[in-house]
Amino acid sequence: MSTPDLFDNMSPALPLSTTQRVAELHRVLHHHAHRYYVLDAPEIPDAEYDHLFQELQVIEAAHPELVTPDSPTQRVGGRPLDGLASVRHAVPMLSIETETDTTETGAQKFDARVRKELKLQDEDAPIEYAAELKFDGLAINLRYEQGVLVQAATRGDGETGEDVTQNIRTIGQIPLRLLGVQVPVLEIRGEVYMRRDDFNALNDKQRQRGDKTFINPRNTAAGAIRQLDPAIVAQRPLSFFAYGLGEVDGWLLPPTHSAMLDAFEAMGVPVCADRAAVSGAQGLLEFHQAMGAKRDALPFDIDGVVYKVNSLALQQQLGFKTREPRWAVAHKYPAQEQLTTVLAIDVQVGRTGKLTPVAKLAPVFVGGVTVTNATLHNEDEARRKDVRVGDAVIVRRAGDVIPEIVGVVLTQSARPEPVEGLRQAQPEREKERGSIFTMPHTCPVCGSAAVREEGEADYRCTGGLFCSAQRKEAILHFAHRRAVEVEGLGDKLVEQLVDAGIVKTLPDLYRLGFTALAALERMADKSAQNILDALEKSKQTTLPRFIFGLGIRHVGEATAKALASHFGKLDAIMGETPETAASVEQLLEVADVGPIVAESIHTFFQQPHNREVVEQLRACGLQWAEGEPAQRAQLPLAGQTFVITGTLPTLSRDQAKDLLEAAGAKVAGSVSKKTHYLVAGAEPGSKLDKAKELDIAVLDEAALMAMLATFEGDKS
Ligand code: IVH
Repeated sequence: MSTPDLFDNMSPALPLSTTQRVAELHRVLHHHAHRYYVLDAPEIPDAEYDHLFQELQVIEAAHPELVTPDSPTQRVGGRPLDGLASVRHAVPMLSIETETDTTETGAQKFDARVRKELKLQDEDAPIEYAAELKFDGLAINLRYEQGVLVQAATRGDGETGEDVTQNIRTIGQIPLRLLGVQVPVLEIRGEVYMRRDDFNALNDKQRQRGDKTFINPRNTAAGAIRQLDPAIVAQRPLSFFAYGLGEVDGWLLPPTHSAMLDAFEAMGVPVCADRAAVSGAQGLLEFHQAMGAKRDALPFDIDGVVYKVNSLALQQQLGFKTREPRWAVAHKYPAQEQLTTVLAIDVQVGRTGKLTPVAKLAPVFVGGVTVTNATLHNEDEARRKDVRVGDAVIVRRAGDVIPEIVGVVLTQSARPEPVEGLRQAQPEREKERGSIFTMPHTCPVCGSAAVREEGEADYRCTGGLFCSAQRKEAILHFAHRRAVEVEGLGDKLVEQLVDAGIVKTLPDLYRLGFTALAALERMADKSAQNILDALEKSKQTTLPRFIFGLGIRHVGEATAKALASHFGKLDAIMGETPETAASVEQLLEVADVGPIVAESIHTFFQQPHNREVVEQLRACGLQWAEGEPAQRAQLPLAGQTFVITGTLPTLSRDQAKDLLEAAGAKVAGSVSKKTHYLVAGAEPGSKLDKAKELDIAVLDEAALMAMLATFEGDKS
């Protein structure tokens, strides 16, 4: 590689080797920056790059006269500016006409217009088009003189833009020096944008620091470019794609737009790979379809595709209307983001009692559907986005993802000026807004207390069985095989019973009559009788099953068993009155019950509705054996861990588990060094191998029963 022109007239006092080394470092560093930022295919480790970079910094510090604008050290060197200077574009930066027909016929309409303009007949050959993506960012003109980036400007009003050179230099993808081209003037135009993953990572960082998050990649990229402090811009992960040409002097134009983009690519300028030279309206249509299908999988946002007549000669022949070329059109896809208004913020109660704030929106067509609701997830999220009734908000729906509010727009204009810190810039608008959203402290469905536990994002209704929103789930849980077990009481039936208002609370199940059941849709007499029989059978239950069946939050099967054996009687847990219920401290004494679980159990039995449900269930005839508070440690198998595998000859796995747990053993899911016994049936699989490997005792069903029988003997 020859020494660049820039070094020809250097101070003769300097040893040639230093200038040569600087030139060499420029070349090598530019090359590796291109591999890294543009091609995403580094050839050397980061540390080696840093090492070369530092070498250049050292030389430049000793010889400031060697610092050139295209030096790799000059990306983040600028100071904050007082304002952005105006730049008059040598060639106006035009916009493109938008084809309003977002369906595929839009492509045909454009082709028809071009053919008509060129006075082509039907029998004439199809026109070749360059089809590319319409990037959603900010248009930038990069001016290279002698191959060196000397100025970067925004589009502005098309005639005059703003000088953003300092900021553009911070974008690693944009070459400070073109590869192999040193013509007097070459202006390359394209879009600065932000990739979605970069955007999300940036917002994660903002969140971690407790700073405000950004609305969308486009506004963030546009805001960053117009920043006055390049040090801030350097922290914004921006990218660039070239798509056009400005002033040219000394560069021989290629014959087509596609060839021009190829040439830019060879100069080290990023060009999007999703582009094609296609033939006629049919080719455009196919491109439109292909990119539409690919849209959600692209790593950045696009709002459509752009079609350009490929031949630069034909482009010239077609020329311009006032502000737009006749040879190009933007063919949009249905928008994935729309502006709308928040009409109300409702709070919905989910099947598990979770309270979710939902914004009710003025209907908007976005991402292919009409959206009227958007979840705000939870209190923190609602506060972070600070969505209020009456606000103008941007709603996004991409792909099949549920619609979300990306942010509030505090200016009156439909598309706000992309300025960072938009919120703070509008204090007068702040006063006119509705009040800040707060989560209700009672359930909007049943009026029970809604609480947010420490460390949790969600508020939950404590109404449990009483809350109609939670009723279906609660009934299904109660009827579960491992809980009170009502055979045949499944989703569909519960849905019917609750929707028809026949079952409002768990005790209503036991008040069901044959007539009411048989009257349900698709319910044969025999099935109705089966349900009644199953309900009758379920009345004989056990205390652990009953406690588990109540669906107390955080109380799974194991905790229910632990509670039952610790307290022996239900009344010892719920008390005769709320005041005499087990305290949090008492609950904490139960093995495996921590503060969150204890609090949850305590709160449950403080709710009058829940106590009422329990009383009524007992009144309906549910019963179980109660015993004295057991000291777990005194049970014969206390401290012993069992694992069950394979099919046992007579016992189901659940039955074996129940027997073992009743004897105080712990039943684990996998074999480890902590396992004391493996109970193995037919086809035991890898657990048996593992147990043998670890020298763990293996029992068959008979051996297990024999072991349990010895305890029975102990008792008598
Ligand atoms: S060509 C004379 N190509 O869309 C034609 N523009 O209104 C100049 N844009 O300001 C533009 N992707 O910011 C062109 N592949 C693409 C584009 C593109 C996005 C933007 C650009 C321009 C606006 C056109």
